[in-house]
Amino acid sequence: MGNHKLKKIGVLTSGGDSPGMNAAIRAVVRTALYHGVEVIGIREGYDGLVQAKFTAMGARSVSNIIDLGGTILKSARSDAFRTEEGRQKAYENCKNHGIDGLVVIGGDGTFTGAQIFSEEHGIKVIGVPGTIDNDIFGTDSTIGFDTALNTAMDAIDKIRDTATSHNRIFFIEVMGRDAGFIALHSGIATGAVDILIPEQKDSFEEFYKTLEESHKRGKVSNIVIVAEGEQLATTYELADKTKEKFPNADIRVSVLGHIQRGGRPSCADRVLASRLGYGAVIGLMKGLTNVMAGLRSNQLVYTPIEDAIKKHNEINKELLTVGEVLAL
Ligand code: F6P
Repeated sequence: MGNHKLKKIGVLTSGGDSPGMNAAIRAVVRTALYHGVEVIGIREGYDGLVQAKFTAMGARSVSNIIDLGGTILKSARSDAFRTEEGRQKAYENCKNHGIDGLVVIGGDGTFTGAQIFSEEHGIKVIGVPGTIDNDIFGTDSTIGFDTALNTAMDAIDKIRDTATSHNRIFFIEVMGRDAGFIALHSGIATGAVDILIPEQKDSFEEFYKTLEESHKRGKVSNIVIVAEGEQLATTYELADKTKEKFPNADIRVSVLGHIQRGGRPSCADRVLASRLGYGAVIGLMKGLTNVMAGLRSNQLVYTPIEDAIKKHNEINKELLTVGEVLAL
């Protein structure tokens, strides 16, 4: 594929890190170099763009990172980039270093920054969805979601062992910000008795009924998965209220937290990151801007960044039914 316009691009990671971001950086760097485009690595997200924390990236600069969690470029939330002056400085840095396109890897906050920057200064930008939350419209899965799920699943499996030994009810909180994807999928994968997610209206009455029925059917230990964005109550409040309702129940809470953000990316995330990093550079070379590279039904697609930010990735309600039926 020929490329006659693009000479140099920048790549950055921003917002919460996710496993597979390094594989995406590697893909961006190597795809660009393959096509004769130079690459500048921008450290610490948009802060690095404002402060010109730039490093030239060669093919060897991304050796041995495909299997690493986190991001070698580091990530940050930038206050400076939220201001017009900050973005003006960022633009001048791009101009001075000859950067004519940007690949931004992150979630919706990252994409919002990219959109404003590109509209203000005409720099071409392409987004790559990297977040464990899977809450981005325009891709079936975000980079890091699969790894986070497997991390959560492993942790929940271990908790199940002790829950079973002690006949306990465990409330396990998983991440996802205001989305329930991690909760829903990890809950099904670990056979949870109930999965509480913000996308579904829950009530204490229904929840107590689920526990009562489970008890009647002979279950002596239970796993309840709670998304951190659950609207009914916080995980600790849920546990406290359940204890009030069932004083004889032995109840514990476990909040999995940032363990879900780290670790070696799964095979699925490495492949996804490689395809999307590749797709982002190809998109820039074709002259696309203000779009996000995603995979839908295993096909590389570009979605306007505006839609990726504004539209929501819908959960599959059928999965809730599957979880409910299989908790018999
Ligand atoms: O967006 C990724 C995420 O891990 C969310 O699931 C979580 O709500 C948030 O980031 C935590 O952010 P921080 O790392 O700033 O505590």
